[in-house]
Amino acid sequence: MVILEGRGITKEFGGLRAVSEVDFVLNKKEILGLIGPNGAGKTTIINMISGTYPPTRGRVIFKGNDITGKKPYKIGRMGISRTYQIVKPFPGMTVKENVSVGAMFGARGKELNAKESIKKAEETLEFVGLQDMANKRADDLSVASRKRLEMAKALAMGPEVILFDEVMAGLNFSEIDKAVELIQKIRDEGISILVIEHVMRAIKNVSDRIFVLHHGIKIADGTPDEVLNNEQVIKAYLGRRYKELVQ
Ligand SMILES: Nc1ncnc2c1ncn2[C@@H]1O[C@H](COP(=O)(O)OP(=O)(O)O)[C@@H](O)[C@H]1O
Ligand SMILES: [Mg+2]
Repeated sequence: MVILEGRGITKEFGGLRAVSEVDFVLNKKEILGLIGPNGAGKTTIINMISGTYPPTRGRVIFKGNDITGKKPYKIGRMGISRTYQIVKPFPGMTVKENVSVGAMFGARGKELNAKESIKKAEETLEFVGLQDMANKRADDLSVASRKRLEMAKALAMGPEVILFDEVMAGLNFSEIDKAVELIQKIRDEGISILVIEHVMRAIKNVSDRIFVLHHGIKIADGTPDEVLNNEQVIKAYLGRRYKELVQ
């Protein structure tokens, strides 16, 4: 069953076409990987889905409803949350307070008062394994914990779809494996996930399907094996040495 769909989504910034006529489908409880070189248009796809800015052309369909061009807070309340590639915790606040804000502005935001939001934050921190950091200031965390906090903020919104933008960048191998486990655990909760990542080992292991962007154009779409062995993908992105990198 399809939960989120992009139909011919296109974004132009002045004369630059960052994303061109991209179609994609995210099924319920699926992990869909999105890869491509820097500047390929990956973050722009997330920005168009989450309402940061509207597509120049094309439609975004969520659970059968056209959500194209809706404001970010409305899309958040409808059940789509995201992380940011450059993590943006509220620096003066504790980890728990940061996650409470996510809970308060999320899909169940209209229902949760401050006390309930704090409770939701505590449950979410437990779920992602950050409970011991709950009372630390967000800006005192390591890179790996900050990325995890970013994931917790998105998760606390109670979404049906999460868009992860490079939540593994800057992590070491064991931290990457833990992040992969967490993404799978989130999917097991019934959440559908779009994940942008450069770490090939991770994206290969975590994704049910992958699609590839190059200069804003979708050049491949399929299972991880199909996509990572696609000649055009190897040429445009992975390079000849990719097999050494993923194995
Ligand atoms: N707000 C913006 N204004 C102008 N150009 C932008 C903006 N956002 C992204 N771009 C441009 O669009 C292209 C795609 O960027 P982006 O989606 O961030 O790529 P990726 O996430 O794949 O690295 C790049 O050339 C980038 O410079
Ligand atoms: Mg990006």
